[in-house]
Amino acid sequence: MPGWTTQDIPDQSGRVAVVTGANSGLGFVTARELARKGARVVLACRSEARGNAPVDRLRAELPQARLELGRLDLGDLASVRDFAAGFPYERLDVLVDNAGVMALPYGRTADGFETQFGTNHLGHFALTGLLLPALLAAPGARVVAVSSPAHALANIDMRDLNGERRYRRWIAYARSKTANLLFVHELARRAAAHGSSLVAAAAHPGYAATNLQTAGPRAEGRRAAERFMSIGNRVFAQSAEAGALPVLYAATDPGVRPDSFTGPSFAMWRGVPAPSWRAPWTLSDAAGERLWAASEELTGVTYGALKA
Ligand SMILES: NC(=O)c1ccc[n+]([C@@H]2O[C@H](COP(=O)([O-])OP(=O)(O)OC[C@H]3O[C@@H](n4cnc5c(N)ncnc54)[C@H](OP(=O)(O)O)[C@@H]3O)[C@@H](O)[C@H]2O)c1
Repeated sequence: MPGWTTQDIPDQSGRVAVVTGANSGLGFVTARELARKGARVVLACRSEARGNAPVDRLRAELPQARLELGRLDLGDLASVRDFAAGFPYERLDVLVDNAGVMALPYGRTADGFETQFGTNHLGHFALTGLLLPALLAAPGARVVAVSSPAHALANIDMRDLNGERRYRRWIAYARSKTANLLFVHELARRAAAHGSSLVAAAAHPGYAATNLQTAGPRAEGRRAAERFMSIGNRVFAQSAEAGALPVLYAATDPGVRPDSFTGPSFAMWRGVPAPSWRAPWTLSDAAGERLWAASEELTGVTYGALKA
Protein backbone atom coordinates (compact mmCIF):
# COMPACT_ATOMS: atom_id res chain seq x y z
CA MET A 1 0.00 0.00 0.00
CA PRO A 2 2.88 2.54 0.35
CA GLY A 3 2.23 5.47 -1.99
CA TRP A 4 -1.09 3.99 -3.16
CA THR A 5 -2.87 6.20 -5.72
CA THR A 6 -5.84 5.97 -8.07
CA GLN A 7 -3.40 4.45 -10.62
CA ASP A 8 -3.40 1.36 -8.40
CA ILE A 9 -7.15 0.77 -8.64
CA PRO A 10 -7.58 -2.55 -10.43
CA ASP A 11 -9.75 -2.76 -13.53
CA GLN A 12 -13.40 -2.60 -12.46
CA SER A 13 -14.95 -3.70 -15.77
CA GLY A 14 -17.99 -5.90 -15.27
CA ARG A 15 -18.40 -4.79 -11.66
CA VAL A 16 -21.34 -2.93 -10.20
CA ALA A 17 -20.88 -0.32 -7.48
CA VAL A 18 -23.20 1.79 -5.35
CA VAL A 19 -21.86 4.91 -3.64
CA THR A 20 -24.11 6.71 -1.17
CA GLY A 21 -23.86 10.50 -0.98
CA ALA A 22 -22.14 10.52 -4.37
CA ASN A 23 -23.19 14.04 -5.37
CA SER A 24 -20.60 15.68 -3.15
CA GLY A 25 -17.18 15.44 -1.52
CA LEU A 26 -15.64 12.01 -1.03
CA GLY A 27 -18.60 10.16 -2.54
CA PHE A 28 -18.30 12.09 -5.78
CA VAL A 29 -14.57 11.37 -6.12
CA THR A 30 -15.11 7.71 -5.19
CA ALA A 31 -17.88 7.28 -7.78
CA ARG A 32 -15.82 9.06 -10.44
CA GLU A 33 -12.71 6.91 -9.93
CA LEU A 34 -14.67 3.64 -9.83
CA ALA A 35 -16.38 4.66 -13.07
CA ARG A 36 -13.07 5.70 -14.64
CA LYS A 37 -11.82 2.16 -14.04
CA GLY A 38 -14.85 0.64 -15.76
CA ALA A 39 -17.34 -0.07 -12.96
CA ARG A 40 -21.02 0.54 -13.53
CA VAL A 41 -21.74 3.04 -10.77
CA VAL A 42 -25.03 3.94 -9.15
CA LEU A 43 -24.76 7.34 -7.49
CA ALA A 44 -27.21 7.10 -4.62
CA CYS A 45 -28.25 10.64 -3.69
CA ARG A 46 -31.00 11.99 -1.48
CA SER A 47 -31.87 14.82 -3.84
CA GLU A 48 -32.38 14.31 -7.54
CA ALA A 49 -31.86 18.02 -8.06
CA ARG A 50 -28.46 17.91 -6.34
CA GLY A 51 -27.55 14.63 -8.05
CA ASN A 52 -28.20 15.61 -11.66
CA ALA A 53 -25.40 18.17 -12.05
CA PRO A 54 -22.62 15.89 -10.72
CA VAL A 55 -23.81 13.04 -12.95
CA ASP A 56 -23.80 15.37 -15.96
CA ARG A 57 -20.32 16.54 -15.00
CA LEU A 58 -19.07 12.95 -14.81
CA ARG A 59 -20.69 12.06 -18.13
CA ALA A 60 -18.90 14.99 -19.76
CA GLU A 61 -15.56 14.03 -18.21
CA LEU A 62 -15.92 10.28 -18.77
CA PRO A 63 -18.09 9.73 -21.85
CA GLN A 64 -17.64 5.94 -21.68
CA ALA A 65 -18.67 5.72 -18.05
CA ARG A 66 -21.73 3.76 -17.05
CA LEU A 67 -23.41 5.95 -14.47
CA GLU A 68 -26.85 6.05 -12.96
CA LEU A 69 -28.49 8.31 -10.48
CA GLY A 70 -30.48 6.57 -7.74
CA ARG A 71 -32.72 8.32 -5.25
CA LEU A 72 -31.86 7.35 -1.69
CA ASP A 73 -32.65 9.21 1.53
CA LEU A 74 -30.93 7.39 4.37
CA GLY A 75 -33.04 9.33 6.81
CA ASP A 76 -36.19 7.63 5.60
CA LEU A 77 -36.46 3.84 5.70
CA ALA A 78 -39.22 3.89 3.09
CA SER A 79 -36.78 5.53 0.68
CA VAL A 80 -34.09 2.97 1.56
CA ARG A 81 -36.56 0.17 0.87
CA ASP A 82 -37.61 1.75 -2.43
CA PHE A 83 -33.99 2.10 -3.52
CA ALA A 84 -33.22 -1.54 -2.70
CA ALA A 85 -36.46 -2.82 -4.26
CA GLY A 86 -35.66 -0.91 -7.47
CA PHE A 87 -32.00 -1.98 -7.60
CA PRO A 88 -31.84 -3.40 -11.10
CA TYR A 89 -28.77 -5.66 -10.94
CA GLU A 90 -28.43 -9.21 -9.71
CA ARG A 91 -24.97 -8.58 -8.32
CA LEU A 92 -23.40 -5.79 -6.36
CA ASP A 93 -19.60 -5.87 -6.16
CA VAL A 94 -18.89 -2.69 -4.21
CA LEU A 95 -21.15 -0.87 -1.76
CA VAL A 96 -19.62 2.30 -0.35
CA ASP A 97 -21.63 3.44 2.68
CA ASN A 98 -20.28 6.96 2.49
CA ALA A 99 -23.08 9.51 2.98
CA GLY A 100 -23.13 11.35 6.25
CA VAL A 101 -24.09 14.37 8.27
CA MET A 102 -22.05 15.92 11.07
CA ALA A 103 -22.75 17.76 14.31
CA LEU A 104 -26.31 18.76 13.55
CA PRO A 105 -28.63 20.11 16.23
CA TYR A 106 -31.01 17.53 17.69
CA GLY A 107 -33.39 16.30 15.05
CA ARG A 108 -35.14 13.13 13.98
CA THR A 109 -35.29 11.14 10.77
CA ALA A 110 -38.62 10.29 9.14
CA ASP A 111 -38.73 7.17 11.34
CA GLY A 112 -38.02 9.06 14.56
CA PHE A 113 -34.32 8.19 14.99
CA GLU A 114 -31.83 10.85 16.05
CA THR A 115 -30.60 12.31 12.74
CA GLN A 116 -26.89 11.45 12.90
CA PHE A 117 -27.36 7.91 14.27
CA GLY A 118 -30.32 7.37 11.94
CA THR A 119 -28.58 8.62 8.79
CA ASN A 120 -24.96 7.65 9.30
CA HIS A 121 -25.58 4.22 10.86
CA LEU A 122 -29.17 2.94 10.71
CA GLY A 123 -29.83 4.03 7.13
CA HIS A 124 -26.68 2.25 5.95
CA PHE A 125 -27.42 -0.78 8.13
CA ALA A 126 -30.81 -1.12 6.45
CA LEU A 127 -29.45 -0.45 2.96
CA THR A 128 -26.67 -3.02 3.26
CA GLY A 129 -29.06 -5.64 4.67
CA LEU A 130 -31.59 -5.08 1.90
CA LEU A 131 -28.87 -5.29 -0.77
CA LEU A 132 -27.30 -8.38 0.83
CA PRO A 133 -28.63 -10.88 -1.75
CA ALA A 134 -26.94 -8.88 -4.54
CA LEU A 135 -23.73 -8.55 -2.50
CA LEU A 136 -23.64 -12.29 -1.83
CA ALA A 137 -24.18 -12.94 -5.55
CA ALA A 138 -20.88 -11.17 -6.35
CA PRO A 139 -17.83 -13.21 -5.32
CA GLY A 140 -15.60 -11.21 -2.96
CA ALA A 141 -17.98 -8.25 -2.82
CA ARG A 142 -16.90 -5.26 -0.72
CA VAL A 143 -18.85 -3.25 1.81
CA VAL A 144 -16.97 -0.14 2.86
CA ALA A 145 -18.16 2.02 5.74
CA VAL A 146 -16.79 5.55 5.83
CA SER A 147 -16.04 6.34 9.46
CA SER A 148 -13.96 9.13 10.99
CA PRO A 149 -11.10 9.81 13.39
CA ALA A 150 -13.85 11.52 15.42
CA HIS A 151 -15.16 8.07 16.38
CA ALA A 152 -12.48 8.12 19.08
CA LEU A 153 -14.40 10.82 20.97
CA ALA A 154 -17.14 8.45 22.14
CA ASN A 155 -18.28 4.87 22.42
CA ILE A 156 -21.93 4.18 21.65
CA ASP A 157 -24.37 4.36 24.56
CA MET A 158 -26.61 1.32 24.24
CA ARG A 159 -29.08 2.79 26.76
CA ASP A 160 -29.51 5.96 24.75
CA LEU A 161 -28.87 5.21 21.08
CA ASN A 162 -31.14 8.04 19.99
CA GLY A 163 -29.65 10.66 22.30
CA GLU A 164 -32.94 11.22 24.10
CA ARG A 165 -31.54 11.49 27.63
CA ARG A 166 -28.74 13.84 26.72
CA TYR A 167 -27.74 15.20 23.33
CA ARG A 168 -24.38 16.69 22.45
CA ARG A 169 -23.99 17.12 18.72
CA TRP A 170 -20.28 16.20 18.41
CA ILE A 171 -20.63 13.23 20.75
CA ALA A 172 -23.61 12.04 18.73
CA TYR A 173 -21.51 12.30 15.56
CA ALA A 174 -18.67 10.38 17.21
CA ARG A 175 -21.10 7.67 18.33
CA SER A 176 -22.49 7.32 14.81
CA LYS A 177 -18.93 6.88 13.51
CA THR A 178 -18.18 4.30 16.23
CA ALA A 179 -21.36 2.55 15.07
CA ASN A 180 -19.95 2.45 11.50
CA LEU A 181 -16.87 0.62 12.79
CA LEU A 182 -18.84 -1.78 14.99
CA PHE A 183 -21.09 -2.51 12.01
CA VAL A 184 -18.09 -3.48 9.89
CA HIS A 185 -16.65 -5.54 12.76
CA GLU A 186 -19.85 -7.56 13.16
CA LEU A 187 -20.51 -7.86 9.42
CA ALA A 188 -16.98 -9.20 8.90
CA ARG A 189 -17.45 -11.68 11.75
CA ARG A 190 -20.72 -12.92 10.32
CA ALA A 191 -19.31 -13.23 6.80
CA ALA A 192 -16.41 -15.29 8.18
CA ALA A 193 -18.73 -17.50 10.27
CA HIS A 194 -20.79 -18.26 7.16
CA GLY A 195 -17.75 -18.92 4.97
CA SER A 196 -18.78 -15.99 2.77
CA SER A 197 -16.22 -14.20 0.59
CA LEU A 198 -17.84 -10.82 1.38
CA VAL A 199 -15.23 -8.35 2.64
CA ALA A 200 -16.47 -5.68 5.06
CA ALA A 201 -13.92 -2.94 5.68
CA ALA A 202 -13.82 0.63 6.94
CA ALA A 203 -11.99 3.76 5.85
CA HIS A 204 -11.73 7.42 6.74
CA PRO A 205 -10.40 10.48 4.92
CA GLY A 206 -8.62 12.21 7.79
CA TYR A 207 -9.63 15.82 7.44
CA ALA A 208 -10.77 16.61 3.90
CA ALA A 209 -12.30 19.83 2.62
CA THR A 210 -15.89 18.99 1.64
CA ASN A 211 -19.39 20.28 2.34
CA LEU A 212 -19.52 18.23 5.54
CA GLN A 213 -18.07 20.94 7.77
CA THR A 214 -20.19 23.80 6.42
CA ALA A 215 -23.52 22.08 5.65
CA GLY A 216 -24.70 22.09 9.29
CA PRO A 217 -23.84 25.72 10.15
CA ARG A 218 -25.26 26.86 6.80
CA ALA A 219 -28.57 25.06 7.40
CA GLU A 220 -28.80 26.67 10.84
CA GLY A 221 -27.86 30.11 9.54
CA ARG A 222 -24.79 30.21 11.83
CA ARG A 223 -22.72 32.43 9.58
CA ALA A 224 -19.69 32.80 11.89
CA ALA A 225 -19.45 29.02 12.37
CA GLU A 226 -19.73 28.48 8.62
CA ARG A 227 -16.93 30.97 7.97
CA PHE A 228 -14.79 29.42 10.70
CA MET A 229 -15.25 25.96 9.16
CA SER A 230 -14.46 27.26 5.64
CA ILE A 231 -11.22 28.80 6.85
CA GLY A 232 -10.33 25.57 8.66
CA ASN A 233 -10.94 23.66 5.44
CA ARG A 234 -8.69 25.99 3.46
CA VAL A 235 -5.85 26.01 5.96
CA PHE A 236 -5.78 22.54 7.51
CA ALA A 237 -7.66 20.09 5.33
CA GLN A 238 -6.43 17.95 2.49
CA SER A 239 -8.43 17.81 -0.73
CA ALA A 240 -11.48 15.61 -1.26
CA GLU A 241 -9.37 13.81 -3.89
CA ALA A 242 -6.78 12.86 -1.28
CA GLY A 243 -9.44 12.09 1.34
CA ALA A 244 -11.16 9.64 -0.99
CA LEU A 245 -8.01 7.55 -1.52
CA PRO A 246 -8.38 5.40 1.63
CA VAL A 247 -12.02 4.79 0.66
CA LEU A 248 -11.02 3.76 -2.86
CA TYR A 249 -8.27 1.56 -1.46
CA ALA A 250 -10.71 -0.21 0.88
CA ALA A 251 -13.20 -0.59 -1.98
CA THR A 252 -10.86 -2.05 -4.57
CA ASP A 253 -7.44 -3.23 -3.44
CA PRO A 254 -7.03 -7.02 -3.47
CA GLY A 255 -4.98 -6.84 -0.26
CA VAL A 256 -7.74 -5.40 1.93
CA ARG A 257 -8.43 -7.51 5.02
CA PRO A 258 -11.91 -7.91 6.50
CA ASP A 259 -12.55 -5.49 9.38
CA SER A 260 -9.52 -3.37 8.45
CA PHE A 261 -9.56 0.41 8.89
CA THR A 262 -7.68 2.50 6.35
CA GLY A 263 -6.97 6.21 6.65
CA PRO A 264 -4.34 8.79 5.79
CA SER A 265 -0.81 7.94 6.91
CA PHE A 266 -0.04 11.07 8.95
CA ALA A 267 -1.70 11.53 12.34
CA MET A 268 -5.14 10.30 11.12
CA TRP A 269 -5.25 13.64 9.32
CA ARG A 270 -3.60 13.67 5.89
CA GLY A 271 -1.36 11.59 3.63
CA VAL A 272 -1.52 8.41 1.61
CA PRO A 273 -3.63 5.37 2.59
CA ALA A 274 -2.28 3.40 5.55
CA PRO A 275 -3.65 1.17 8.31
CA SER A 276 -5.37 3.41 10.82
CA TRP A 277 -5.63 3.29 14.58
CA ARG A 278 -9.10 2.62 15.97
CA ALA A 279 -10.51 2.83 19.47
CA PRO A 280 -10.53 -0.56 21.21
CA TRP A 281 -14.30 -0.39 21.76
CA THR A 282 -14.81 -0.67 17.99
CA LEU A 283 -13.38 -4.19 18.14
CA SER A 284 -15.70 -5.54 20.84
CA ASP A 285 -17.65 -8.62 19.71
CA ALA A 286 -20.22 -8.09 22.46
CA ALA A 287 -20.82 -4.44 21.51
CA GLY A 288 -21.01 -5.36 17.82
CA GLU A 289 -23.64 -8.02 18.55
CA ARG A 290 -25.68 -5.69 20.76
CA LEU A 291 -25.65 -2.88 18.23
CA TRP A 292 -26.57 -5.32 15.47
CA ALA A 293 -29.55 -6.68 17.41
CA ALA A 294 -30.74 -3.14 18.21
CA SER A 295 -30.30 -2.06 14.58
CA GLU A 296 -32.32 -5.03 13.33
CA GLU A 297 -35.08 -4.20 15.79
CA LEU A 298 -35.12 -0.48 15.00
CA THR A 299 -35.03 -0.84 11.20
CA GLY A 300 -36.90 -4.12 10.82
CA VAL A 301 -34.15 -5.26 8.44
CA THR A 302 -32.65 -8.65 9.23
CA TYR A 303 -29.63 -10.21 7.60
CA GLY A 304 -31.21 -13.64 7.09
CA ALA A 305 -28.33 -15.09 5.04
CA LEU A 306 -25.76 -14.04 7.64
CA LYS A 307 -27.61 -15.00 10.83
CA ALA A 308 -25.50 -15.07 14.00
N1 LIG B 1 -14.61 15.50 5.12
C1 LIG B 1 -14.01 15.05 6.20
O1 LIG B 1 -13.04 15.64 6.70
C2 LIG B 1 -14.49 13.79 6.85
C3 LIG B 1 -13.78 13.30 7.97
C4 LIG B 1 -14.15 12.11 8.53
C5 LIG B 1 -15.23 11.40 8.02
N2 LIG B 1 -15.92 11.88 6.96
C6 LIG B 1 -17.07 11.10 6.47
O2 LIG B 1 -17.04 11.08 5.06
C7 LIG B 1 -18.36 10.83 4.58
C8 LIG B 1 -18.61 11.72 3.37
O3 LIG B 1 -18.63 13.07 3.77
P1 LIG B 1 -18.01 14.27 2.93
O4 LIG B 1 -16.89 14.80 3.72
O5 LIG B 1 -17.79 13.87 1.53
O6 LIG B 1 -19.20 15.34 3.09
P2 LIG B 1 -20.21 15.99 2.04
O7 LIG B 1 -19.48 16.63 0.92
O8 LIG B 1 -21.12 16.83 2.88
O9 LIG B 1 -21.02 14.74 1.50
C9 LIG B 1 -21.96 14.07 2.29
C10 LIG B 1 -22.93 13.37 1.38
O10 LIG B 1 -23.88 12.67 2.19
C11 LIG B 1 -25.16 12.97 1.68
N3 LIG B 1 -26.22 12.78 2.66
C12 LIG B 1 -26.42 13.44 3.80
N4 LIG B 1 -27.56 13.03 4.39
C13 LIG B 1 -28.08 12.09 3.58
C14 LIG B 1 -29.25 11.31 3.61
N5 LIG B 1 -30.17 11.43 4.58
N6 LIG B 1 -29.48 10.41 2.62
C15 LIG B 1 -28.59 10.30 1.61
N7 LIG B 1 -27.48 11.02 1.50
C16 LIG B 1 -27.24 11.92 2.48
C17 LIG B 1 -25.06 14.41 1.21
O11 LIG B 1 -26.16 14.73 0.38
P3 LIG B 1 -26.62 16.27 0.18
O12 LIG B 1 -25.60 16.91 -0.71
O13 LIG B 1 -27.96 16.13 -0.42
O14 LIG B 1 -26.64 16.89 1.55
C18 LIG B 1 -23.74 14.36 0.50
O15 LIG B 1 -23.89 13.80 -0.78
C19 LIG B 1 -19.29 11.04 5.76
O16 LIG B 1 -19.74 9.79 6.22
C20 LIG B 1 -18.42 11.70 6.81
O17 LIG B 1 -18.83 11.38 8.12
C21 LIG B 1 -15.57 13.07 6.35
